[in-house]
Amino acid sequence: MAAPLGYDLTVQQLIPGYASLARLAVALLAASQRASLPGASVLVAGCGTGAELVEARSQRPDWQLRAIDPSAEMLAEAQQRLGPASEGINWQQTTVEGLEAQSCFAGALSVLVLQSLPDDGTKLAFLTALARSLEPGGQLVLVDLMAPDRSPLQAQVEAAWLGFQRASGLTADTEELEALTHGLHPIGRARLTALVNAAGFGDPARIFQALGYEGFLLQRLG
Ligand SMILES: C[S@@+](CC[C@H](N)C(=O)[O-])C[C@H]1O[C@@H](n2cnc3c(N)ncnc32)[C@H](O)[C@@H]1O
Repeated sequence: MAAPLGYDLTVQQLIPGYASLARLAVALLAASQRASLPGASVLVAGCGTGAELVEARSQRPDWQLRAIDPSAEMLAEAQQRLGPASEGINWQQTTVEGLEAQSCFAGALSVLVLQSLPDDGTKLAFLTALARSLEPGGQLVLVDLMAPDRSPLQAQVEAAWLGFQRASGLTADTEELEALTHGLHPIGRARLTALVNAAGFGDPARIFQALGYEGFLLQRLG
């Protein structure tokens, strides 16, 4: 497997636990009733440079993978990273909202995508499209930066995040850091629950947290 590309190294220095996220997300989905079946169809929504795809190929080589991303550059990086393992993956340059697939996936992964969408109907459209792409009972693993808690200790949490980045060797004010941290639209847990319920999912079960980053397991309702 190729060495981490610029994006992958930066994101590991920025997000505590990122190196384990894809492994955990795939393991969770693989333990679900539908995606545990041999040859299950799984959607990787916003595949970026392919972290979840590498894990999926390793843990579940039998899965029928659809990898989508609107960025041709990200798709090309992911294909290069996967190498020969990219064959057999169904690659598509599109957003989730532009996906025509209806109720055909046993499971889906969406890591660090929803956070970049504004909460003006765009997040709901994204989640609704994800729910529609899943079979009833299909599950989604969703990971995102969440809005900070209103706690008097929050300033310490922010300071710890900067400390984590510095200790990880992240150099400040790179263009990539700008792209990764600016223009994000994190929401709180109550708002996330309202949005996923409106989209057709049951209540989210939290499966991961590292500072402001949280992961959830969601199931499409019948
Ligand atoms: C921060 S990257 C995360 C990539 C990968 N999931 C990871 O964890 O490393 C977010 C990706 O989501 C893609 N994206 C943005 N909006 C999207 C949408 N509406 N549907 C699908 N992918 C989208 C971006 O092009 C980008 O590659």
